[in-house]
Amino acid sequence: MPERREKPSKYTEDRRFAGAFEGETVSRRRFMTLTAHGAGGLAVGMFALPALGFAAGSALFDRPEVTWESIGDPGQFTTNTYVPKVITTVYGIGEVGKTTIYVRAYDPAQDPPKDPAIGNDFIALSNRCMHLGCPVRYVDAAKRFLCPCHGGVYGFQGEVSGGPPVRPLDRFYTRVRNGQVEVGPRYSVNSQFNRYPSYRDPGQIIDGVGEYLYPGRFSTPKLGD
Ligand code: FES
Repeated sequence: MPERREKPSKYTEDRRFAGAFEGETVSRRRFMTLTAHGAGGLAVGMFALPALGFAAGSALFDRPEVTWESIGDPGQFTTNTYVPKVITTVYGIGEVGKTTIYVRAYDPAQDPPKDPAIGNDFIALSNRCMHLGCPVRYVDAAKRFLCPCHGGVYGFQGEVSGGPPVRPLDRFYTRVRNGQVEVGPRYSVNSQFNRYPSYRDPGQIIDGVGEYLYPGRFSTPKLGD
């Protein structure tokens, strides 16, 4: 018959802990360990919970509505040059919510094949440099976009052709409604012009592992996934 082991006493004194007090159930060493772990967990939570709450909250509640803004008659846009337009990307904050975009007509002879999910007939490029976000300017004589801050240069498609920018200029969805070209949300492209609906910030590479290192923001209005 197997020997029955007696249940150990809950009192530290009975278990012969050094320095035990009568009636004490937790040793001072264990008490200090639990206190230190609790304080560590609290400190981690103070940093982690707001970040998690921000991410989850944005995903669940704050995703902005997709808005489309008219930029006029399609006839004003050609395939061989860009027309600057000012659109509002953030409403309710006045002039700082506006940005300049460069728009031209899609040209099958030089542009990558149309993305069947969106089928943009007009190419609308953001003027934010993909190095640190300075405003780039289109120079028609050179058929290039130039950044005044650190010498970033982009080709006619918005691809990087010189300097420190890490990816092509971001783009905006376009469509034609009621005889007007409309501009929708912004999206990012990698060096192959593959589309990333949740746009990335300047300086964030999305080629290779960069796609996972710099995930898109949850608060991005998304279209055409
Ligand atoms: S911000 Fe454009 S090159 Fe640095």
